[in-house]
Amino acid sequence: MKKNILFVCIFVMLSLTACDIGPKSSRGFSLPDGDVIEGQQTFVKLRCNDCHIIKGLDDLNEKRGEPIMTVPLGGKTTRVFTYGELVTSIINPSHKISQKYLATPVEENGQSKMRNYNELMTVEELIDIVAFLQDQYELEPVSRTYYTVY
Ligand code: HEC
Repeated sequence: MKKNILFVCIFVMLSLTACDIGPKSSRGFSLPDGDVIEGQQTFVKLRCNDCHIIKGLDDLNEKRGEPIMTVPLGGKTTRVFTYGELVTSIINPSHKISQKYLATPVEENGQSKMRNYNELMTVEELIDIVAFLQDQYELEPVSRTYYTVY
């Protein structure tokens, strides 16, 4: 009897997680193709580089005035940054504060120190910036760890 109850509980839990597609789900989200060059120009125009350096783009990094922070974007990564993740990082930065930059104080009282651009940026600019940022990440395969037999 106890076993049956356990099975029912597991089944209910599994079906609940499988149906986790509410009105706030990102299912169906898709961006049109953006322009990488325009995106780079917008990145500078909106002064994203006040706080960010882009790995490998030394010219762009050198053009910065007095930086506020040096949070790096781009470079080698073991997983793809999806449109959804990048758009969320830009329009809702405090949703998930990146844990990669623990050395720099990137948040205050749970709020990201990133500037809010929602009233400044056009949708076109957002699309181009996302295309530009995605282009800056280089996907590298995860290297397997081989353990020697003791
Ligand atoms: C005043 C400083 C500041 C400015 C200006 C700024 N950011 Fe940020 N940004 C941050 C900080 C701090 C973080 C790390 C904390 C977080 O995840 O929000 C961050 C995180 C990000 C991330 C997530 C990175 C990751 O590895 O998860 C992206 C993408 C990003 N910013 C893009 C932009 C873009 C695009 C602009 C310009 C439109 C911009 N930022 C302007 C401070 C800034």
